[in-house]
Amino acid sequence: MTLLQVRGLKAGYGPLKVLEGIDLEVGEGEIVVMLGANGAGKTTTLRALSGVIPRTGTVEFAGADISKASPESIVRSGVAQVPQGRGTFPELSVDDNMHAGAYPRRDSSAAIKTDIGKWYDVFPRLADRRHQRAGSLSGGEQQMLAIARALMSRPTLLLCDEPSLGLAPLITQELFKVLERLNKEEGLAVLLVEQNANLAMHIASRVYLLETGRIVASGSAAELSADDSIRKAYLGF
Ligand SMILES: Nc1ncnc2c1ncn2[C@@H]1O[C@H](COP(=O)(O)OP(=O)(O)OP(=O)(O)O)[C@@H](O)[C@H]1O
Ligand SMILES: [Mg+2]
Repeated sequence: MTLLQVRGLKAGYGPLKVLEGIDLEVGEGEIVVMLGANGAGKTTTLRALSGVIPRTGTVEFAGADISKASPESIVRSGVAQVPQGRGTFPELSVDDNMHAGAYPRRDSSAAIKTDIGKWYDVFPRLADRRHQRAGSLSGGEQQMLAIARALMSRPTLLLCDEPSLGLAPLITQELFKVLERLNKEEGLAVLLVEQNANLAMHIASRVYLLETGRIVASGSAAELSADDSIRKAYLGF
């Protein structure tokens, strides 16, 4: 079933029009990857979906129209974003960042503590550094914290903006494995923006290619990599 349905999404910054009408969907339990060159509008798409910038068009999530919803109510409805370039509170400890990620929840602090423990099991590096200031974590550790913190809101859909940015290949693989595991074990749907096309294609159910604010191609990873021009332009082989 369709979880996220986007039609004619337009957004920009003041007079600058970036998105020219995006149509896309994410099914329940899917990992969907969005690829595109620098400046194509990938981050803008995720920000428009999270409601942090003004947008027009239709966005439906789990059957509800969230086109005009506030960022808070979008998170509450089950959509969490991991922003490009970390997205943690650098002055707060790892533990406090995790608690901050639970802000939209209304359940008990015991349930929140249980979840923090669960994500520390998934990311043991964070558990070892739970009292450390987030700003003093390594880049990869900060990226793990950004993801773990987003998961604290108990999302059904995770919007993930270039989690591999600046990370060593092995750490990137580790992160992607975690996303894949959460997808398989918890049914977490993911909309993943990536420059690391080859790696991302491996975990993708479907792929969209974005070019200057428009979707120019979509399909399964196999379909897109069978197309010579797409392979050369986006996959570099
Ligand atoms: N806050 C802003 N104010 C004005 N223009 C912006 C702002 N943020 C982004 N832009 C412009 O919008 C366009 C799309 O940017 P966006 O960040 O969505 O690209 P992207 O596809 O995520 O690129 P990258 O791969 O480099 O992260 C770019 O031309 C950029 O300069
Ligand atoms: Mg970006």
